[in-house]
Amino acid sequence: MASQLFVRGGSVAPVPSPTLRRGLGLDLVGAACLVTGASSGIGAATARLLAGAGARVAVHGRDRAALDRLAADLGAPTIQGDLTEPGAAEAVAAAAEADLGPLDVVVSNAGAGWSGSFCEMDPAEADCLIALNLTAPVHLARAVIPGMAARGRGCLVLVGSIVGHLGAPQEAVYAATKAALASLAESLRAEMAPVGVGVCLVSPGVVQTAFFDRRGLPYSRRRPRPIPAGRVAVAVETAITEGRPRTIVPTWLGLPVALSTLTPSLYRRLADRWA
Ligand SMILES: NC(=O)c1ccc[n+]([C@@H]2O[C@H](COP(=O)([O-])OP(=O)(O)OC[C@H]3O[C@@H](n4cnc5c(N)ncnc54)[C@H](OP(=O)(O)O)[C@@H]3O)[C@@H](O)[C@H]2O)c1
Repeated sequence: MASQLFVRGGSVAPVPSPTLRRGLGLDLVGAACLVTGASSGIGAATARLLAGAGARVAVHGRDRAALDRLAADLGAPTIQGDLTEPGAAEAVAAAAEADLGPLDVVVSNAGAGWSGSFCEMDPAEADCLIALNLTAPVHLARAVIPGMAARGRGCLVLVGSIVGHLGAPQEAVYAATKAALASLAESLRAEMAPVGVGVCLVSPGVVQTAFFDRRGLPYSRRRPRPIPAGRVAVAVETAITEGRPRTIVPTWLGLPVALSTLTPSLYRRLADRWA
């Protein structure tokens, strides 16, 4: 039985029945991939890993020099763009497709943190954080998923955060953007699986990148211990190749997430006690 899918421009494409589709894992060899926020940290490590696995990778960021260094190593096309600007996500997707052709994989990774008292947060800063961490991934997904659906092939990876599952004091708006990404991923996964498009959420814990210095508050806790960005990159690669809908990295952080779901009051008591 076939269902119908409305793609951009109003045309209608027939798609196979959900029952014919199993395992949305994608082979990376020769795959056209876009990684946003690839000029630093998790995105840079992911771009390197995907290119090493045989993918054709376009790298996005704002930092021209960092992008050029990566491009020199990987032979990758670079795309510069500030994703807080209206239309930027669509422009980044179009530039990547102009370089590589139809995209098979998009890793929506670019993002930033914000830490401090919610009462003192400038509403303009909240808007900016939401624009980068939530609006841009939504617009990027909207730009690339119809094409993937029409081709019956593709994978979108959203880089979330452990705080999107658990919340975090002093990080309310950041955590809210990442919680929204988790919900976006789960909803899109269910909607797109029948047409052969995988949607994966990768939620890292604490990672050794410029993230904490950039948000203005270095990471100072002893635990959880920061993990290298390369570990998150491996989680992203595995999510793509195995079609994993949700990955928490490191894996043990799945325990507090499970606890907060199953016994929220116990989780809150423990979390408040151990801050
Ligand atoms: N580090 C952690 O502990 C951690 C934990 C959980 C989740 N995450 C998530 O992981 C993702 C990557 O972060 P990271 O740790 O790798 O941090 P990072 O090293 O600071 O990298 C952030 C990337 O996002 C890009 N970016 C930032 N603002 C942008 C903007 N306005 N427009 C376009 N690109 C922008 C940066 O580009 P430029 O450098 O070129 O400006 C950079 O490539 C983020 O979504 C973050 O929320 C990080």
